[in-house]
Amino acid sequence: MCGIVGYVGPQSALDVVLEGLRRLEYRGYDSAGVAVLADGGTATAKKAGKLANLEKVLADSPLPESTTGIGHTRWATHGGPTDRNAHPHLSVDGKVAVIHNGIIENFAALRAECEATGVEFASETDTEVAAHLLAKQYAETPQGPGRLAEAMRAVSRRLEGAFTLVASHADEPDTLVASRRNSPLVVGVGDGEYFLGSDVAAFIAHTREARELGQDQVVEIDRRRGLTVTDFGGTVVEPTAYTVDWDAEAAEKGGHDWFMLKEIAEQPQAVADTLLGRLGDDGQLVLDEVRLSDQELRDIDKVFVVSCGTSYHAGLIAKYAIEHWTRIPVEVEVASEFRYRDPVLDRSTLVVVISQSGETMDTLMALRHAKDQKARVLAICNVNGSTIPRESDAVLYTHAGPEVAVASTKSFLAQIVACYLVGLVLAQVRGMKYADEVAAIVEDLRRLPDAVSQVLTRMEPVRELGRSLADADTILFLGRHVGFPVALEGALKLKELAYIHAEGFAAGELKHGPIALIDRGTPVVVIVPSPRSRGSVHGKVVSNIQEVRARGARTIVIAEEGDDDVLPYADHVIRVPRTPTLLAPIVTTVPLQVLACEIADTRGYDVDQPRNLAKSVTVE
Ligand code: G6P
Repeated sequence: MCGIVGYVGPQSALDVVLEGLRRLEYRGYDSAGVAVLADGGTATAKKAGKLANLEKVLADSPLPESTTGIGHTRWATHGGPTDRNAHPHLSVDGKVAVIHNGIIENFAALRAECEATGVEFASETDTEVAAHLLAKQYAETPQGPGRLAEAMRAVSRRLEGAFTLVASHADEPDTLVASRRNSPLVVGVGDGEYFLGSDVAAFIAHTREARELGQDQVVEIDRRRGLTVTDFGGTVVEPTAYTVDWDAEAAEKGGHDWFMLKEIAEQPQAVADTLLGRLGDDGQLVLDEVRLSDQELRDIDKVFVVSCGTSYHAGLIAKYAIEHWTRIPVEVEVASEFRYRDPVLDRSTLVVVISQSGETMDTLMALRHAKDQKARVLAICNVNGSTIPRESDAVLYTHAGPEVAVASTKSFLAQIVACYLVGLVLAQVRGMKYADEVAAIVEDLRRLPDAVSQVLTRMEPVRELGRSLADADTILFLGRHVGFPVALEGALKLKELAYIHAEGFAAGELKHGPIALIDRGTPVVVIVPSPRSRGSVHGKVVSNIQEVRARGARTIVIAEEGDDDVLPYADHVIRVPRTPTLLAPIVTTVPLQVLACEIADTRGYDVDQPRNLAKSVTVE
């Protein structure tokens, strides 16, 4: 949420910053702005709407050449998405420029304080207080190296809430400073140049050498003095260095019309990479970072899975697998509700937090609540070095690679795989499954990349179907067992991308109300479980298809190869390869992603950047 870029070095700062913003635009796209330091002053440009609007402004009125600059792409919180509210925000004398991600919760009091001294605000944002406070603090800070950083520390100590702030001062044309609390910030280190970014995508085209910034820290990047990190009190700290294992190409569209199409196509690889190296030579499963002993894992008597959006749906699927393999009760909850209802947590509770970005504020706060209550926290995360894995007791990374499209696809599949691995690790440590049994399931998992590839080769009829559904007002999704979360995810994808009313239901629940929604021609997508599923769940879903068809629905059925029971009741059949029941979401989700993408594209919408959304939501 909100993309931040900063650059200090020999290149054209504007070029570097704009390129970074292009890669970060998925974080927010209500408005964009830049500032560069040149000729003893600060030159800015900002514009409501997507980055392309700002680029037009810059083409008409270019900014002066500069080697120090900042840029921002916004997801509005305080103040509407207007030119005025776009970042950067300037101090009254125009010398300080500030960009911000997060929410300064005590901004009203700080604004009143500034106004009392005669400051007139130019925007409705919470951010602008930081520019004015910084200008005042800078004036009061003794001259000398590190003056802007010192002022930033003093201001940061007064701020409440979540923030990443990056600031420049016209009197220090080779310096940028940044401050971070509860919002993401990474530093890129090149050859005589430094970068700041909300995530590594901001500078990946220039360097893969990165430094992690901890909570409540301030960083100064200066062309002569280099990189200095301190805490808010001024004590120097050594930032953790790491090398980014994504390359710039991974964050390009690679010939696809949309990032989302590319990411859907990358799913076999994402699944394969998430499994890679997880099964040790002795048949034992290995997680990435486990700061928990086997005994602690054995003592777990309850699991919570906590996450948001698509990651929440991965959690719902995890419940089926973890409970089945470990016999430990699993509760799944959206992160924004979790901590407010005082869940029962203790040392023997494992809280699995799932987050693609590793920065989702709701999930981060749930994690902290769980830790306060002494629960153990295991993170499943896609972004290395992000806050959520850093604060967790154990981490399993999904190796899906950078996901740029706002709606999650490949990281969802990778998260499900990671959840299976967590279930198997728990089962193994607790003696519920022997190594050979685990290895057999891992073999089933290993077949999944091929199965996903097969699904992908058969997507043309799904695209055609999508085009025919582009005028639908409502599309319903039904599933049972693990097919139920898949139905929820199918509906979410459609809402996110195509802005069509869509709902996912447990197929059995339909008759208790939602069936009233079915009208002549209402499209209903049904995820049919394997005929080999336990109980008579397959037969029950086939009955549910008949029920909706009898009421006029247009039935779109996702069924396993060879399942002919569905044929009499299906207007359209989408085939997926035979897959063990618990693993089926990996294949049944894919056509739903393609369907939503095609419907959105046919309706003329921006598939990668749907309205009102942001990829990484760093506010509560
Ligand atoms: C946002 C995105 C969703 C995503 C959710 C959770 O709402 O638009 O696509 O599923 O955040 O994100 P996370 O990074 O925690 O998985």
